[in-house]
Amino acid sequence: MSKLWGGRFTKETNKLVEEQTASISFDQKLANEDIQGSIAHVNMLATTGIITEDEGATITKGLKAVQNKLENGELTFSVEHEDIHMNIEKFLIDEIGPVGGKLHTGRSRNDQVATDMHLYLKNHTEDIIELVKGTQKAILNQASEHIDTILPGYTHLQRAQPISFSHHILTYFWMLQRDKERLQDSLKRVSGSPLGAGALAGTTFPLDRKQVADELGFDYVYPNSIDAVSDRDFILEFMSAASIMMMHISRLAEEMVIWSSQEFQFIELDDSFCTGSSIMPQKKNPDVPELLRAKTGRVYGNLMGLLTVLKGLPLAYNKDMQEDKEGMFDTVETLEGSLMMLAPMIDTMMVKVDNMKQAVSEDYSNATDIADYLVTKGMPFRQSHEVIGKIVLYGIDNNKYLLDLTMEEYKSFSELFEDDIYRVLAPEEVVANRRSYGGTSQSQVKEQLKLAKGLM
Ligand code: ARG
Repeated sequence: MSKLWGGRFTKETNKLVEEQTASISFDQKLANEDIQGSIAHVNMLATTGIITEDEGATITKGLKAVQNKLENGELTFSVEHEDIHMNIEKFLIDEIGPVGGKLHTGRSRNDQVATDMHLYLKNHTEDIIELVKGTQKAILNQASEHIDTILPGYTHLQRAQPISFSHHILTYFWMLQRDKERLQDSLKRVSGSPLGAGALAGTTFPLDRKQVADELGFDYVYPNSIDAVSDRDFILEFMSAASIMMMHISRLAEEMVIWSSQEFQFIELDDSFCTGSSIMPQKKNPDVPELLRAKTGRVYGNLMGLLTVLKGLPLAYNKDMQEDKEGMFDTVETLEGSLMMLAPMIDTMMVKVDNMKQAVSEDYSNATDIADYLVTKGMPFRQSHEVIGKIVLYGIDNNKYLLDLTMEEYKSFSELFEDDIYRVLAPEEVVANRRSYGGTSQSQVKEQLKLAKGLM
């Protein structure tokens, strides 16, 4: 089969080389973007008079016919034509004859592939932003339901202070909010048009790069043709934002795994998001959050892979850059799939309010509150910390929680204790008293919810 670039060659390409250097097996995902980019290019070639209007119309029609045939599965890609760009150009020439060869006027695969990648990532970033919003909404639904649900808050995975479940779960809303903002910001860079940069130096034809950019929905044209074909920062940025987001998803997933364990029993995941064991009939395994936790690894790996491919590359295009694709596709698909599962899993998760409540009544997570109590009675905090530490130790030794100690016992540690201590120690009070801005009190959580909902 003759190559589109065969003129300079006297020998056929080694078959193994052909197979190993071809990207068609994976870059066929760019077929629609490639055709879209080509139509914009050809329209511009026609309006600038580089080709005739008739030629332009014939090529555009031909490209649409190719797109149709591809959608109907009537065409088969070939490794001989290496990548999506040359496969489509070949289909076009088969479709409309030699005039199809005018499509590539003033263009190189270098600016073409960069354009395809920008288009692909722009579309998918926009989709992912919508999926993030869906997940945030699921979080808001649970948060609105559970302002008064109290559970132990943890540091070092040790019980720390009682908190509202709404407050806890809203943390993930804010993480995703920042993730979404990072993606929104990255759209600024993904919205640049490389087309018209040629192989690296621009072209001898009087192209209108602005027209092409407008038609493709890009906000601007790369001002430097070498940068246009060498830049893959926009993919790295996406992958970085994706890595941070997966790290957040993984933290939530980990909490879901822990919370649904027999030891915690704080939540129950819906049956439709769990799987069973092939041997142990009693098992209901949290496979989905476990997989979300694990998929973070491949997203990090894709980022490290591309950073490593790009480091030390001389300007401008190098074949190394073909290795940008699989990782990008994989990151997009992993993120989309993860978010699609996460939102309904949060929505359908059952929060075991009574178990959470029981947990806060069986710990010392109200210790800070008695320390604060003594402070309001005039004792310096450092001293009250010491006193309460001793009380906790006494409680542990005598199998008593702070609410179980008698007034006599309290008085033996400090004369400052009075009957009102019991009110201060009740978990509901402990939570309600954390009224500082951004705190866990029901009143603050309601304010926070209002703010969060206002962002949606
Ligand atoms: N398949 C190539 C890639 O994905 C397209 C660009 C090829 N350019 C070239 N000069 N060989 O990077």
